[in-house]
Amino acid sequence: MEIIKVANYEAMSVQGAHHILTHLITKQINVLGLATGGTPEGLYRTLREKINEKALSLNHLHTVNLDEYIGLPADSPASYHHYMHDIFFKYIAIPTENTHLPNGNAPDVVEECAHYEKVIESLGGVDLQLLGIGHNGHIGFNEPGSPFNGRTRIVDLAPSTIEANARYFSSKKDVPRQAITMGIENIMESRHILLLASGKEKADAVKALIEGNVSEEIPATILQHHPNLTIIADEAALSSVTRALPTI
Ligand code: GLP
Repeated sequence: MEIIKVANYEAMSVQGAHHILTHLITKQINVLGLATGGTPEGLYRTLREKINEKALSLNHLHTVNLDEYIGLPADSPASYHHYMHDIFFKYIAIPTENTHLPNGNAPDVVEECAHYEKVIESLGGVDLQLLGIGHNGHIGFNEPGSPFNGRTRIVDLAPSTIEANARYFSSKKDVPRQAITMGIENIMESRHILLLASGKEKADAVKALIEGNVSEEIPATILQHHPNLTIIADEAALSSVTRALPTI
């Protein structure tokens, strides 16, 4: 595991965008796994600028998102389809048919999970997966107790996740209770992982991720076993970690 400690959210976003850009340019990756939430917003803003500055061709690139709420129309401002379009896809020249998210509005969501697995498989798997981390250590929507061998499936959201994500809805009661998420096994199959974390409220989850026992009760702890994990986190998110880490 490589840990890059930066001063604040802005520095995390710039470093994170640079990390992805390096993979796009020098490793010529074909499949980029994407995440949503407040954490990667700054990264997307920087990355779209750099991609356009360098006039990077993205015709070959496919993106696959980790998750989507069940039952929200794709054009709902709180859907992850909308989020991705609004902050990233609409600014870059990527073919729309190359951007994949689970369809939380499919008539048969069980079938949709199987379909999403096939999409990822047909692309040859994920080269680099971007992740955030929930307050409770969730990754994607793999909440505490999720099996480490879990694959794309329907999940119930934890009360703390509903609480944390209510800020994107007019009220807490509007937050969907279920989502489709890639499983932990899918995430672990990614060839590289980049996890971002910012802020004091992530400090406990980040400490567990780096120094805790590997346990399904804190899903992110499994990432300790990933051979190519990079964590870019700010001082506040790393404030509970015992080992000394210099800020770059
Ligand atoms: C959400 C998403 C995750 C995200 C996490 C943290 O519920 N499903 O992919 O990493 O929670 O979100 P935030 O970055 O807003 O703290």
